[in-house]
Amino acid sequence: MTDKIQCKREKHQSKDDMINLKDNVSRYDDLKFNRRAFLKTAVGATVALGLSTLPFSVKAFLGDFEEERELVEIAKLYDVPKGSSMTFHYPTENDPALLVHTKAGELKAYNSACTHLMCPVFYEKESEVLLCPCHQGYFDLNNGHPIAGPPQRELPLIEIEVQNGIVYAAGRKIRHG
Ligand code: FES
Repeated sequence: MTDKIQCKREKHQSKDDMINLKDNVSRYDDLKFNRRAFLKTAVGATVALGLSTLPFSVKAFLGDFEEERELVEIAKLYDVPKGSSMTFHYPTENDPALLVHTKAGELKAYNSACTHLMCPVFYEKESEVLLCPCHQGYFDLNNGHPIAGPPQRELPLIEIEVQNGIVYAAGRKIRHG
Protein backbone atom coordinates (compact mmCIF):
# COMPACT_ATOMS: atom_id res chain seq x y z
CA MET A 1 0.00 0.00 0.00
CA THR A 2 2.79 2.40 1.00
CA ASP A 3 4.59 1.50 -2.23
CA LYS A 4 1.47 2.34 -4.14
CA ILE A 5 1.25 5.80 -2.62
CA GLN A 6 4.97 6.29 -3.14
CA CYS A 7 4.57 5.24 -6.75
CA LYS A 8 1.62 7.59 -7.26
CA ARG A 9 3.57 10.47 -5.74
CA GLU A 10 6.55 9.82 -7.97
CA LYS A 11 4.29 9.71 -10.95
CA HIS A 12 3.26 13.28 -10.11
CA GLN A 13 6.77 14.59 -9.56
CA SER A 14 6.89 17.32 -12.14
CA LYS A 15 9.08 20.33 -12.84
CA ASP A 16 6.04 22.49 -12.20
CA ASP A 17 5.79 23.22 -8.47
CA MET A 18 2.13 24.09 -8.72
CA ILE A 19 1.34 20.58 -10.10
CA ASN A 20 3.45 18.98 -7.40
CA LEU A 21 1.76 21.11 -4.78
CA LYS A 22 -1.72 20.10 -5.93
CA ASP A 23 -1.00 16.38 -6.26
CA ASN A 24 1.40 15.67 -3.45
CA VAL A 25 0.39 13.59 -0.43
CA SER A 26 3.24 14.31 1.96
CA ARG A 27 3.24 16.99 4.62
CA TYR A 28 6.95 17.52 4.08
CA ASP A 29 6.48 17.98 0.34
CA ASP A 30 3.55 20.26 0.97
CA LEU A 31 5.78 22.63 2.94
CA LYS A 32 8.53 22.39 0.34
CA PHE A 33 6.27 23.10 -2.65
CA ASN A 34 4.41 25.85 -0.81
CA ARG A 35 7.67 27.57 0.03
CA ARG A 36 8.93 27.25 -3.54
CA ALA A 37 5.70 28.52 -5.02
CA PHE A 38 5.68 31.45 -2.61
CA LEU A 39 9.29 32.37 -3.36
CA LYS A 40 8.75 32.17 -7.11
CA THR A 41 5.66 34.36 -6.87
CA ALA A 42 7.40 36.87 -4.59
CA VAL A 43 10.45 37.16 -6.86
CA GLY A 44 8.24 37.46 -9.94
CA ALA A 45 6.13 40.16 -8.34
CA THR A 46 9.22 42.09 -7.23
CA VAL A 47 10.74 42.01 -10.72
CA ALA A 48 7.44 43.00 -12.33
CA LEU A 49 7.00 45.90 -9.89
CA GLY A 50 10.57 47.09 -10.46
CA LEU A 51 10.16 47.04 -14.23
CA SER A 52 6.81 48.80 -14.15
CA THR A 53 8.18 51.69 -12.07
CA LEU A 54 11.40 52.05 -14.09
CA PRO A 55 10.14 54.92 -16.30
CA PHE A 56 9.24 56.95 -13.19
CA SER A 57 12.66 56.32 -11.64
CA VAL A 58 14.42 57.45 -14.81
CA LYS A 59 12.23 60.55 -14.98
CA ALA A 60 12.96 61.42 -11.35
CA PHE A 61 16.68 60.88 -11.91
CA LEU A 62 16.84 63.08 -14.98
CA GLY A 63 14.80 65.85 -13.41
CA ASP A 64 11.19 66.63 -14.02
CA PHE A 65 11.15 69.61 -16.32
CA GLU A 66 7.81 69.40 -18.03
CA GLU A 67 8.18 72.03 -20.72
CA GLU A 68 10.69 72.46 -23.49
CA ARG A 69 13.48 74.78 -22.50
CA GLU A 70 12.11 77.56 -24.65
CA LEU A 71 12.93 80.98 -23.21
CA VAL A 72 9.96 83.15 -22.23
CA GLU A 73 10.68 86.77 -21.35
CA ILE A 74 9.53 87.78 -17.88
CA ALA A 75 11.05 91.20 -17.19
CA LYS A 76 13.95 93.55 -17.65
CA LEU A 77 16.45 92.95 -14.86
CA TYR A 78 16.55 96.64 -13.88
CA ASP A 79 12.78 96.49 -13.22
CA VAL A 80 13.41 94.00 -10.41
CA PRO A 81 16.07 95.50 -8.11
CA LYS A 82 17.59 93.50 -5.24
CA GLY A 83 15.14 92.93 -2.40
CA SER A 84 12.07 93.13 -4.62
CA SER A 85 9.69 90.83 -6.42
CA MET A 86 7.26 90.86 -9.29
CA THR A 87 4.41 88.64 -10.40
CA PHE A 88 4.11 86.99 -13.81
CA HIS A 89 2.43 83.94 -15.33
CA TYR A 90 4.20 80.80 -16.45
CA PRO A 91 3.87 78.50 -18.33
CA THR A 92 0.30 79.61 -19.12
CA GLU A 93 -1.86 82.60 -18.21
CA ASN A 94 -3.53 80.34 -15.62
CA ASP A 95 -0.29 79.75 -13.70
CA PRO A 96 0.57 82.73 -11.47
CA ALA A 97 4.23 82.98 -10.55
CA LEU A 98 6.57 85.11 -8.48
CA LEU A 99 10.05 86.32 -9.43
CA VAL A 100 12.22 87.39 -6.50
CA HIS A 101 15.53 89.22 -6.69
CA THR A 102 17.02 88.41 -3.31
CA LYS A 103 18.98 90.89 -1.21
CA ALA A 104 22.08 88.79 -2.02
CA GLY A 105 21.47 89.26 -5.75
CA GLU A 106 20.05 85.84 -6.72
CA LEU A 107 16.98 85.39 -8.90
CA LYS A 108 14.40 82.88 -7.70
CA ALA A 109 11.06 82.06 -9.29
CA TYR A 110 8.19 79.77 -8.32
CA ASN A 111 4.59 79.31 -9.20
CA SER A 112 2.91 81.31 -6.50
CA ALA A 113 -0.28 79.34 -5.80
CA CYS A 114 0.22 77.98 -2.30
CA THR A 115 0.41 74.18 -2.23
CA HIS A 116 -2.03 74.13 0.68
CA LEU A 117 -5.21 75.73 -0.69
CA MET A 118 -3.93 77.82 -3.61
CA CYS A 119 -3.81 81.29 -2.03
CA PRO A 120 -1.14 83.54 -3.54
CA VAL A 121 2.29 83.46 -1.94
CA PHE A 122 4.24 86.70 -1.35
CA TYR A 123 7.88 87.64 -0.87
CA GLU A 124 8.60 88.87 2.64
CA LYS A 125 11.63 91.05 2.27
CA GLU A 126 12.58 91.40 5.96
CA SER A 127 13.00 87.69 6.64
CA GLU A 128 13.57 86.64 3.00
CA VAL A 129 10.91 83.94 2.98
CA LEU A 130 7.80 83.30 0.92
CA LEU A 131 4.62 83.77 2.93
CA CYS A 132 1.09 82.58 2.29
CA PRO A 133 -1.07 84.83 4.46
CA CYS A 134 -4.20 82.65 4.29
CA HIS A 135 -3.04 80.20 6.98
CA GLN A 136 0.46 81.46 7.73
CA GLY A 137 2.24 79.04 5.44
CA TYR A 138 5.95 79.71 4.90
CA PHE A 139 8.27 78.52 2.12
CA ASP A 140 12.05 78.64 1.89
CA LEU A 141 13.03 81.29 -0.65
CA ASN A 142 16.09 79.29 -1.73
CA ASN A 143 14.28 76.14 -2.82
CA GLY A 144 10.52 76.60 -2.40
CA HIS A 145 10.26 73.93 0.32
CA PRO A 146 7.55 74.39 2.95
CA ILE A 147 9.10 75.38 6.28
CA ALA A 148 6.13 76.28 8.50
CA GLY A 149 2.35 76.15 8.58
CA PRO A 150 0.01 73.81 6.72
CA PRO A 151 1.71 73.42 3.28
CA GLN A 152 3.35 70.03 2.81
CA ARG A 153 4.63 70.27 -0.77
CA GLU A 154 7.22 72.46 -2.49
CA LEU A 155 6.24 75.26 -4.82
CA PRO A 156 6.89 74.44 -8.49
CA LEU A 157 10.31 75.76 -9.38
CA ILE A 158 10.76 77.96 -12.46
CA GLU A 159 14.21 77.94 -14.02
CA ILE A 160 15.54 81.42 -14.72
CA GLU A 161 18.07 82.62 -17.27
CA VAL A 162 19.35 86.15 -17.79
CA GLN A 163 20.60 87.27 -21.19
CA ASN A 164 21.53 90.84 -22.08
CA GLY A 165 19.65 92.25 -19.09
CA ILE A 166 16.45 90.32 -19.86
CA VAL A 167 15.09 87.76 -17.37
CA TYR A 168 13.65 84.63 -18.99
CA ALA A 169 11.74 81.61 -17.70
CA ALA A 170 13.39 78.49 -19.10
CA GLY A 171 11.34 75.59 -17.75
CA ARG A 172 9.35 74.46 -14.77
CA LYS A 173 9.98 71.67 -12.33
CA ILE A 174 7.13 70.25 -10.29
CA ARG A 175 8.35 68.42 -7.21
CA HIS A 176 6.34 65.80 -5.28
CA GLY A 177 3.45 65.74 -7.73
S1 FES B 1 -3.55 78.35 1.42
FE1 FES B 1 -1.53 78.77 1.93
S2 FES B 1 -1.31 78.17 3.96
FE2 FES B 1 -3.36 77.65 3.46
